Amino acid sequence: MNKITIKTDTAESNIFIGEKLKNLSSYIPENKVVIITDQNIIKHYKDLIPDLPTVIIGQGEKIKTLDTINMIFEKFLKFEVDRSWYVLVIGGGIVCDIAGFAASIYMRGLNFGFVSTTLLSQVDASVGGKNGVNFKGYKNMVGVFNQPEFVMCDLNMLKTLERMEFLSGFAEIVKAAVIKNNNLFTYLENNYKKALDYNIDVLKKIVYESVFIKSEVVKKDEKEKGERRKLNFGHTFAHSFEKHLGITHGQAVSIGMVLAASLSQKYGLIEESDVTRIKNLLINLSLPVKTDFNSNKILSGIKKDKKREGEHIHLVLLNKIGNAVIRKVTIQELEKNINDLYSNF
Ligand SMILES: NC(=O)c1ccc[n+]([C@@H]2O[C@H](COP(=O)([O-])OP(=O)(O)OC[C@H]3O[C@@H](n4cnc5c(N)ncnc54)[C@H](O)[C@@H]3O)[C@@H](O)[C@H]2O)c1
Repeated sequence: MNKITIKTDTAESNIFIGEKLKNLSSYIPENKVVIITDQNIIKHYKDLIPDLPTVIIGQGEKIKTLDTINMIFEKFLKFEVDRSWYVLVIGGGIVCDIAGFAASIYMRGLNFGFVSTTLLSQVDASVGGKNGVNFKGYKNMVGVFNQPEFVMCDLNMLKTLERMEFLSGFAEIVKAAVIKNNNLFTYLENNYKKALDYNIDVLKKIVYESVFIKSEVVKKDEKEKGERRKLNFGHTFAHSFEKHLGITHGQAVSIGMVLAASLSQKYGLIEESDVTRIKNLLINLSLPVKTDFNSNKILSGIKKDKKREGEHIHLVLLNKIGNAVIRKVTIQELEKNINDLYSNF
């Protein structure tokens, strides 16, 4: 097992990669624990989950709303949860985002920990302290920065994931590599087949490296004032794809990264061969790299992005594989470039 610690001004969060769900009891208090999870986790792991008051939430992006937060609070009241209770969250990115937010605001905040059960949440969603829900169709519009006390990543739990959900996680791994670590990118190019075959040593390495990259960024910039923006590589566009095409977050990020890499080439920062390498790796990982989606919808999505600052947006580009740069561009300039690109995309 490997441990990575994120220490910020206000909290410490320990991420355990390769830990086993059966050891869960040593991470949580002996009593006054409430679990938040979803039906798939209950279906596959009921026997390994302690018999405690449990809130089961639904599935999919559509339940990432304030209504679900209300439902959780109603259950908390029924269980007589007070400030001395601990919230144990078991699930993927959706469960962690929602439940981390609920735990952070109920009675001004309860302590909480995550058992992260999808590849995407192990490498990204459960790490770094962003918790929240969507609002009126705007992605992650309401939320907090608040670190879980622990994040447990049991790699064996990935075997029960639907194949598409497993593949989706690789998009965030490729993102971590392209923005920060050329060696990880090359490692993925050489080992993707083993990773797709659930080789535990390969999975452990790539999950560890991805979490390490994210933790180093979060330590420097927990509240996303600068460096952390790089983690949004491809995401500015992905949010539109996710919303309108009904594809998974990871699939949307994959298409968004190809668009962001193509823009980087258009700005003269990387070569066409770099874009091709990124595309080929994503294709080898069975992730989508393009869509017929109309460029106007991407642009309207960007205009609604909460990270937009007036007429400007911080665009994350690459100046080589393994190094991202941030450019503040006008929406108008981006609009023109996307329209140019999209005609050949
Ligand atoms: N907070 C962050 O920093 C951050 C970063 C990236 C993504 N996200 C968010 O994460 C969300 C996507 O998360 P996700 O990809 O983990 O999807 P998800 O949470 O919807 O999980 C995917 C599906 O897999 C099921 N599942 C989960 N674990 C399982 C297991 N071990 N075995 C069998 N089935 C299992 C779930 O029930 C669900 O149906 C998006 O809302 C995205 O915005 C957040």
